Amino acid sequence: MLGYEKVSFLGSATPLEYLPSISKELGLEFYIKRDDLTGLGVGGNKLRKLEYLLHEAQQQGATTLLTMGGAQTNHGRLTAAVAAKFGMKCVIVCLDEYPGEVSANILLDRLMGAEVVLKKNDGRPADVQYAETVAAVRARYEEAGEKVYEIPIGGSNVTGMLGYYECAVEITRQAEAMGIGDATLISTVGSFGTYMGLFCGLKNENSPLRLKGIAISPFDEAKKQRLLAYYQEAKEKLGLSYEAKAEDFEIETEYTRGAYNNESAEVREAIYLMARKEAIILDPCYTGKAFAGILEMVESGKLEKGSKVIFLHTGGLPGIYTKHHRLAFERELIDGVTILP
Ligand SMILES: Cc1ncc(COP(=O)(O)O)c(C=O)c1O
Repeated sequence: MLGYEKVSFLGSATPLEYLPSISKELGLEFYIKRDDLTGLGVGGNKLRKLEYLLHEAQQQGATTLLTMGGAQTNHGRLTAAVAAKFGMKCVIVCLDEYPGEVSANILLDRLMGAEVVLKKNDGRPADVQYAETVAAVRARYEEAGEKVYEIPIGGSNVTGMLGYYECAVEITRQAEAMGIGDATLISTVGSFGTYMGLFCGLKNENSPLRLKGIAISPFDEAKKQRLLAYYQEAKEKLGLSYEAKAEDFEIETEYTRGAYNNESAEVREAIYLMARKEAIILDPCYTGKAFAGILEMVESGKLEKGSKVIFLHTGGLPGIYTKHHRLAFERELIDGVTILP
């Protein structure tokens, strides 16, 4: 372990569970790592990153956490949770339209006292629009006497990924104790921090686990280069020895369904399968999309029958309540609702 300090609020390891019905259905030895069961603000992967980010914020004497993302960002919601728990203010800057209702993550953000700032995308480069809006919001908080700590989208910088470095060590220990040390660990890939933390942790701690990422939004060569640059930055800052090449990042790019957080019948089918066989709820933006990819990989033989798979459940439950997903679920599920006079 690297030994960086954090504010420890997650307690003991999250469970690594064998899923018998899904294993039978897919012909795999299928396990799930329950990072959806992390304690605050209904849980999810970002809390592991936030243990390290909060420590850095506290070291700097911050009183407000400012972060960014889409209107329904899970990361924003969990930043709001950590701010509430540790007596700080939180503001979430979103480059997005108002979805027409205070629902899902926006509702939870507001329940936990965070401010949500929605800036309609005007078509200029996203980083320019974010920079302008964040600067204005930051100035407003600073004028009110707050000390602002800024967290990038998804908490995906070197500090944040330490949470998933640590998780890689935790999963390796659990997998070895369960006799599945040679399994393939599968994670979604969004803003990269989760995947990169796992990659660094597995490589640097000589874990026998193999890592596979599933991209949930279109993934081009430029993203691969960004991933490599992220690794180089982590390598330098953390003193890692592994010399990574772009080919080391095993990322499946064919299961994105064409866009970020779009509604997809195949993803909903994957969500129904997991819910109806194991009573575990996946989300339409990340984990359901990745699981739909796993189903296709089983079908095509890319994931060999009998192989051992550990699927990282990164949370995201509130996503099923966002308007466009909720309406799509309603269309498909209303037939099982009996309405008596
Ligand atoms: C539920 C959920 N799963 C997975 C991810 C992807 O993690 P990362 O952004 O670290 O790649 C996110 C990111 O927002 C998420 O909210």
